[in-house]
Amino acid sequence: MNKILVTGGLGYIGSHTVVELLEQGKEVIAIDNLNNSDIRVLSRIEQICGRKPLFTEGDILDKDLLRKVFDEHKPEGIIHFAAYKAVGESTEKPVMYYENNLSGLINLIGVAEEFEVYNFVFSSSCTVYGDTSNSPIGEDEPLQLAISPYGTTKLLGEKILQDLVNFKPFKVVNLRYFNPVGAHPSALIGELPLGVPSNLVPYITQTAAGIREQLVIFGNDYNTPDGTNIRDFIHVVDLAKAHIKALDYAANNDFKLEYFNLGAGKGHSVLEVVKCFERVNDVKLNYRFGERRAGDVVQIWADASKADRVLDWRTELSLETMMESAWKWQQQLGD
Ligand code: NAD
Ligand code: WQD
Repeated sequence: MNKILVTGGLGYIGSHTVVELLEQGKEVIAIDNLNNSDIRVLSRIEQICGRKPLFTEGDILDKDLLRKVFDEHKPEGIIHFAAYKAVGESTEKPVMYYENNLSGLINLIGVAEEFEVYNFVFSSSCTVYGDTSNSPIGEDEPLQLAISPYGTTKLLGEKILQDLVNFKPFKVVNLRYFNPVGAHPSALIGELPLGVPSNLVPYITQTAAGIREQLVIFGNDYNTPDGTNIRDFIHVVDLAKAHIKALDYAANNDFKLEYFNLGAGKGHSVLEVVKCFERVNDVKLNYRFGERRAGDVVQIWADASKADRVLDWRTELSLETMMESAWKWQQQLGD
């Protein structure tokens, strides 16, 4: 498989994956409506790789545009990132989330079917496991009703794809990401949160940069060793590399549907993350403990052994590298 269509290819995980694909010598066709990304990412990718993807600025809700892209570029595989991803916002604008994330997916598989492009990698999330207490959590864990409309779109997205492969010759790889953080070592691409970040690491880096006054750690009275929540943080570069392995798997194996957890396979507490950030960057962070945040799972981390065994993929980058690269990225923002 040489020609890959990447939806949401200028976004956070998409741009890092485009870099890995280009570095593997693949031809990349990226489509993005720039709703949550910046056109400058394209030249940043070129700075890293010496070349850039073919790029269409447009919306995957526009089926005719998708047809044009498929017709012109004849992709052999698809990685589908394009979606809205803010859990909090999804509770305020649920219909907007259903429309973008579900209609977007439905349009894309519809056009993929028309053009007989059957290799499909889907960005799912550990959110499909809901409020679990069974960590490390394996792919066979029963899924729970989602807590947020965003989560519902991932759960339903998986269900639609599960159904589809029973009737059409698609090969679908569902990748369930845990908590992606960090940035490319070049600090040329990274996460660009709009407005006040709701995720931990952008909030940490913006506080260290003086953009936010203080980080509030949401709860230190949980039943965990230091009282704060535990998550499985994964470096975005490790995560991006898993997509190449997923495409290789689809190209070389006969299957309909596969699921993989993508995480480091170990948990770090929120306080550990804060302390690690301070230590590796030699920065003092202004933080305090506050109330618990509604809807937070106490602790969750992945059993990522299936991806190791089947995809020959495992994480290589440490929490320290995640914190260093996140800070390096934050420092050059605004340049
Ligand atoms: P992101 O917002 O940085 O990237 C998504 C990209 O898709 C953006 O560039 C945006 O402009 C584009 N986009 C959105 N709707 C579009 C549309 N209708 N048409 C064309 N382009 C559109 O998000 P990300 O963090 O890179 O996430 C990528 C995928 O991974 C998403 O599906 C997200 O739900 C999933 N995911 C993310 C995380 C995370 O914590 N970042 C965790 C689990 C799963
Ligand atoms: C991590 C921890 C917070 C901000 C979300 C989505 C999930 C997936 C990944 C997409 C929690 C704590 C945070 C702050 C804090 N995304 N925190 N102060 O909630 O684990 O997962 O992103 O699919 O679906 O739900 O990530 O980064 O928001 O929070 O103390 O200012 O940091 O309470 O324990 P979360 P997060």
